[in-house]
Amino acid sequence: MISLRLKNLISIAKQLPLPSHSKASLELVSELQQSFDQLTLEDLNIDDQTDLTSNKLLYLNPAYKTPYGYPISYYPLLENKSFTLSIFAMPRGSTIPLHSHPHMQILSKMLYGSITIDSFEQLQENEKDNNNETKTTTVGSINSNINTTTPQSQSISAIYRGRQVMTKENCRSFLSPDSVLHRFRSLESSSAILELLFPPYEYPQRNCTYYREMGAPTSDGKVRFQPFEPDFYCASHKDHPVLDKLNFELKNLYSDQ
Ligand SMILES: [Fe+2]
Repeated sequence: MISLRLKNLISIAKQLPLPSHSKASLELVSELQQSFDQLTLEDLNIDDQTDLTSNKLLYLNPAYKTPYGYPISYYPLLENKSFTLSIFAMPRGSTIPLHSHPHMQILSKMLYGSITIDSFEQLQENEKDNNNETKTTTVGSINSNINTTTPQSQSISAIYRGRQVMTKENCRSFLSPDSVLHRFRSLESSSAILELLFPPYEYPQRNCTYYREMGAPTSDGKVRFQPFEPDFYCASHKDHPVLDKLNFELKNLYSDQ
């Protein structure tokens, strides 16, 4: 049984353009966000007692704990060429390292628990002056296109845009444009986040890259980052009885174009 609110969200999301065509209009993104905001746990057939991070022996085993905490769980709800709707479940104190979303926009919304989000805006290096100091400008925005990808070996500059605490009570959905890099940290015993990514990650043109600081911020707040492979684990689950059933029903109802 798929709720009317979830059906409404997906009917709007299905209007999103294919990534090879164009970028979603501001009007469509606004309509999408309004519908996304209305989704509740009930629409996903779960409640705030459903701990999506503790249903696996994996999470009870300290051998799987890394500097980023215990593994994150990823539950796909609907994946197609234009968007991905999914849940990330984070154990207490776990962190999703700073990462990119090239050419993508992301709607995030707390389902339960609370997290902090540290956001950085990527700057584009377009020239170097005679002192070899890099000049930067903002990369991308909701309305602009980025036509280059960041090679794994290439460092980047970004400017800190602040920390937000997102809870189920105090936050409507949060829209991240493609120029934003962010880092999530779960504060409570466990947290679950609903995300709509459009377009979805797709290797190699929209690959997720993790970054770490190369040094302290400069006087104007810029930080240099380098790509790295964090000791971080995100497990994809397709065996949760409720969410797997919902995923199955959504796939049947909305087969890919
Ligand atoms: Fe993200």
